[in-house]
Amino acid sequence: MKTDIGIIGMGVMGQNLALNMASKGYGVSVYNRRENRTREFAENKAKKKDIIPTYDLAEFVKSLDKPKKILLMIKAGSPVDEVIAKLTPLLDEGDVILDGGNSNFRDTDRRVEEANSRGLLYLGTGISGGEYGARHGPSIMPGGNEEAYDLVGNLLEDIAAQIPEGPCCAYLGPRSAGHYVKMVHNGIEYGVMESIAEAYWLMNKGLNMEPEDMSSTFEKWNEDLDSYLMEITVSVLKEEDEKTGKPLINLILDTAEQKGTGKWTVQNALELGVPVPTISAAVDGRFISSRKRERKNNSDKIFLEKPARLTGKSNWTEKIHDALYLSTVSAYTQGIYLLNVASSEYEYDLNLDEVARIWKDGCIIRSNLLDEAQKGLRNDPENPNLLFVEPFLSNVKDKSVSTREILSRGRKAGLALPAISSSLDYLVEFSSAYLPANMIQAQRDFFGAHTYQRRDREGYFHNEWLDDN
Ligand SMILES: NC(=O)c1ccc[n+]([C@@H]2O[C@H](COP(=O)([O-])OP(=O)(O)OC[C@H]3O[C@@H](n4cnc5c(N)ncnc54)[C@H](OP(=O)(O)O)[C@@H]3O)[C@@H](O)[C@H]2O)c1
Repeated sequence: MKTDIGIIGMGVMGQNLALNMASKGYGVSVYNRRENRTREFAENKAKKKDIIPTYDLAEFVKSLDKPKKILLMIKAGSPVDEVIAKLTPLLDEGDVILDGGNSNFRDTDRRVEEANSRGLLYLGTGISGGEYGARHGPSIMPGGNEEAYDLVGNLLEDIAAQIPEGPCCAYLGPRSAGHYVKMVHNGIEYGVMESIAEAYWLMNKGLNMEPEDMSSTFEKWNEDLDSYLMEITVSVLKEEDEKTGKPLINLILDTAEQKGTGKWTVQNALELGVPVPTISAAVDGRFISSRKRERKNNSDKIFLEKPARLTGKSNWTEKIHDALYLSTVSAYTQGIYLLNVASSEYEYDLNLDEVARIWKDGCIIRSNLLDEAQKGLRNDPENPNLLFVEPFLSNVKDKSVSTREILSRGRKAGLALPAISSSLDYLVEFSSAYLPANMIQAQRDFFGAHTYQRRDREGYFHNEWLDDN
């Protein structure tokens, strides 16, 4: 009896996806580079399930029904190429390879081409939702050969998170469309995480609130939002350290790590000339945080006073909430704007309404804000900047006033708030008829004769800035 699909890579994601597929009635063959991982899985979690362990790649391939469908759930980068190189000679024309890892979209473009040149079909498949999502229903973002989606789409849709509007999985477009969308998903994730961290910082350092109080505050804020990242923040702030009984958050070292998808989002946004300052601030924030020793050495060199508290009668928590809302919406907006530009630049022909829909459950950035994003995308499909489209426009207009206030008081209190600051600047710059770019144009013309345009006349002009006499 042959199985419906094979999974290579029995790490956290691979194991949970195999269990998810088996629970939906699919037969799954599994293989891992290190045998002991497969054996351990087969003897425990996969026991008595329709999951067939294999210990040799040829045996793995032979166990699959035709056309063979193989999902790679392994470390991104060269491991994917190494496994494809070993796998390809064992496959037949029309077989399907799905890469479910966080591969760089440029690698996926190359791999789709290479696979197609050998008669194989390829789907670069972004999968979000972590361990829990993989087991109970992730958000799945496939792109590549549409014929491949015809063969595995039903399975992917069956194991995805389900919402009233359908499964959180849809074929997104050709070549690297799926991995590109997953990369931007992660970029948005970085921006939202940094925004939440700054709101936490304002309450913690500015208002001297204890983790438990902050947890209740985030919980209240999340009643409407239903955001996964807010939800886990509530739990994080409640968690006590087993050994000391202290709030665990106060014991965790303040150096954030990263695996690269946020950085790739910013790199590609730079290439396409699309501003993503909130996401960029989040990536930079992680870099600066990781230079702990340097920060510590400098910590009494500039700001000699201890950070002050937010004082005065204003209702600061409400204002922090407004700033968090504005910064969070900015992160989603910038990501969707980037998708909009990338869709035409790379000819993905993305349906952004559908992208927002499949992010509504099963993934790390799921939130009710995505309902509003869908409304915005439908209300004004030509406008890539959702901050200026209803329903966001009215909300952001109101909240920009308290965000300004929070920033000025937060700065006075000695707190760095890069994501919230960048988000407000983004909003202000995009709503300014005039910016100081006239000065930049003058400077460029001064040193490089690059010419400038004028406000009062059509055409390009050069000024003789230096008096040669
Ligand atoms: N964890 C998450 O929340 C999450 C969410 C979405 C996407 N992803 C992505 O999904 C992929 C898998 O993630 P994971 O968290 O399941 O990883 P993991 O638990 O760290 O497992 C890594 C897997 O990759 C295999 N591997 C590493 N190098 C290999 C090589 N050169 N040849 C063959 N196999 C190799 C490992 O095999 P050995 O056991 O033999 O070392 C193991 O099966 C990654 O691309 C990750 O970025 C992860």
